[in-house]
Amino acid sequence: MSEFQSVARVGDIPEGQGRSFAVNGTMVGVFLSQGRYLAINDFCPHMGASLADGHVEDDAVMCPWHAWRFSLKDGTWLDNSRSKIRSACYEVRVEDGAIQVKVPTECKAE
Ligand code: FES
Repeated sequence: MSEFQSVARVGDIPEGQGRSFAVNGTMVGVFLSQGRYLAINDFCPHMGASLADGHVEDDAVMCPWHAWRFSLKDGTWLDNSRSKIRSACYEVRVEDGAIQVKVPTECKAE
C-alpha cells in the first residue's frame, strides 16, 4: 500500500535544487526543475551519494561524488544508454501548498 505523504511546502526547495526526505523508509530526493517537482531515489546507484546534493540541469541531476547523471523524469542513468542501472522514480503532487510524494511500501511476509 502507498499513499502520498507531505514532505515540504512549496517554496522550501529552490529552483534547480533538491532536498532529501525519508518516506516509508526510503530516502527520496525531491527536486524543482523547470518549475516542476520531480522525485527519484536519493541514493546514487554507484556508491550511495545523496543525489539531492547534486547539480540540476535540464531535468537531470549530476551526482556530487563522481558526476554520473540521472534523469529526474524516470531515473534513467544518462551516461550509458545500454546500462540497466537506474534510480527509482516516484510520483509527486502539490496539494494545498504541500509537496507530496508517493513511495510504495514493501510487502513483508509474516
Ligand atoms: S556515488 Fe554517485 S556517481 Fe559515484
